[in-house]
Amino acid sequence: MRSTERRPRAAPALRTLRDALHHGVRRFRQARLAFGHGTTNAFDEAAYLTLHALRLPLHELEPHLDLRLTARQLDRILKLFERRIAERKPAAYLTREAWLGDFRFYVDERVIVPRSYIAELLRDDLAPWIARPAKIKAALDLCTGSGCLAILLAHSFPRARIDAVDIDRNALRVARRNVDDYSLADRIALHQADLFSALPGKRYDLILSNPPYVTAASMRRLPPEYRSEPGIALAGGSDGLAVVRTMLSQAAAHLNPGGMLVVEVGHNRRGVEKAYPRLPFTWPETSGGDDCVFLLSREQLLP
Ligand SMILES: C[S@@+](CC[C@H](N)C(=O)[O-])C[C@H]1O[C@@H](n2cnc3c(N)ncnc32)[C@H](O)[C@@H]1O
Repeated sequence: MRSTERRPRAAPALRTLRDALHHGVRRFRQARLAFGHGTTNAFDEAAYLTLHALRLPLHELEPHLDLRLTARQLDRILKLFERRIAERKPAAYLTREAWLGDFRFYVDERVIVPRSYIAELLRDDLAPWIARPAKIKAALDLCTGSGCLAILLAHSFPRARIDAVDIDRNALRVARRNVDDYSLADRIALHQADLFSALPGKRYDLILSNPPYVTAASMRRLPPEYRSEPGIALAGGSDGLAVVRTMLSQAAAHLNPGGMLVVEVGHNRRGVEKAYPRLPFTWPETSGGDDCVFLLSREQLLP
């Protein structure tokens, strides 16, 4: 080789957790992955997969950055990175777990990856809108998917019995597993049904839902990561409000006096307020802004 010719540069050795992490970030950026299923960027995604592969606690990145990796550890990490790129699935489907705060849920392709903004509101037990959690004796989670919000409900409102409904039998199998993992089968009843149809005459102190709300136009533009989730969990009709409309028309009949409806609608506050100009929605602030989740009391829902 003549001295002017360029030698191919050997790939730098990946020795430490920090090296592997930076390698993952580079690879993810090159591959132009889409995020939004628990993490929002290449660094957090690579960190999550690295810590998961090493079976380290997810909040313990810093103290382990200089950890020297064995060949097997590095192999485990790199295989996960390469699967993430080749399959273009959310990391949660590769690791079979998703987190909402400190709560871990089993997930697979039968359910969407839990990421509801309602989980943030449940961290404070829906305060200040629900002043006395002990007064919530009956609650309903419509469109339960993995059962994640029903399980958070059970923790926020320890005196509540909970119904959790999903139209999709496969999703309910995942919910069953999570409810059992949290030993909540005696408090959470799972129902396969279209919204309220299996609950005639039942009334609740609290109804919440993270329904399908993606508009038809957005469905057509979804990146592959989102297309690997069940379409029935995402598609909300032309304006994203198909399921929400039914909920709004039927919720009052299923709420006790003073009861509350809490619904997530994506960033569709404008669409909701345009469709229902007379309803006095409350839009609590979440990390997604003040246009994602609305609250209405039974009395506000009544004509
Ligand atoms: C956006 S996912 C929410 C899952 C879960 N609550 C969460 O926050 O991760 C919506 C769920 O609604 C279910 N679903 C769609 N249409 C429904 C309907 N008409 N009645 C009941 N469930 C429905 C889907 O099967 C899916 O599991």
